[in-house]
Amino acid sequence: MPYANTLDLLREAEKGGYAVPAINIVDPLTIAAIVRAADEVGSPVILQTSVKTVKSAGADVLVTAAKVAAENASVGVALHLDHCPDREVISLCVEKGWSSVLFDASDRNLETARRETAEVVKECHAAGVTVESEIENILGVEDGVGSDEATHAYTVDQLIEVAKETGTDMLAPALGTAHGQYKSDPVLQPDRVTEIRDKYDIPVVLHGGTGLTDAQFHEFIDNGVSKINISTALKHAYMKSALAYLKDCEANDKWEPVKLFAEIEKASEQVMRDYAKIFRSEGKAAK
Ligand code: 13P
Repeated sequence: MPYANTLDLLREAEKGGYAVPAINIVDPLTIAAIVRAADEVGSPVILQTSVKTVKSAGADVLVTAAKVAAENASVGVALHLDHCPDREVISLCVEKGWSSVLFDASDRNLETARRETAEVVKECHAAGVTVESEIENILGVEDGVGSDEATHAYTVDQLIEVAKETGTDMLAPALGTAHGQYKSDPVLQPDRVTEIRDKYDIPVVLHGGTGLTDAQFHEFIDNGVSKINISTALKHAYMKSALAYLKDCEANDKWEPVKLFAEIEKASEQVMRDYAKIFRSEGKAAK
């Protein structure tokens, strides 16, 4: 299939009572593995790139690998730019063919965030690209973007007012989650999702998925979250599978890169399968 529209995937998920796994891939290897596993279990999937990944792998390499994987799959696959405060990188990804972007204006004050989000929405919509908006701080630093301090926090009414005014397509509010590994139990706010969705019909995105329990995910999904972001879990699967294989190489003094890639792909596929089951997205993709 050609690329899916991210917003369409989320609207389908809302109707079906599940959330679409949005996995932060890091290279073409993980793109292939995540889409292969999504196809196998019949789940839609959103491939996400951090700004760091765009800069390290290069936009052309990522978009080509994602397009090839999507075209060979029979499930909906979208390519999304995660947390991007940099307008130049947004323009680059829009030009190169990403499906959607997260304009992260949580480092700006409210007035600047409002003005710039409206500008980004206008630019993206002109190119058929949909926009996720973040104006509150979601705690934690993800690939160099973000902060451990909640410097911008707003009421639900303020969030909705800005979303309506800017025409943003998807909303990433603060919901008590954080990026990275949880060092203590998070104080989650699933009721905020219900409040937002009762007041305004906009898809809500949950960040900081790694480390939450199945029950916590289910409460968020039942309250209306339709996209859940996972990054740290894939990084761990990638690095730990590589480490285990490299230790074997060292022990046996046999060095085979292609087998290393296979180990990384196997571990990455399992991440996708596990979250598709938890998020209830398996078997939900249009064939
Ligand atoms: P984790 O790294 O906690 O899984 O969060 C991912 C995320 O929210 C990416 O935007």
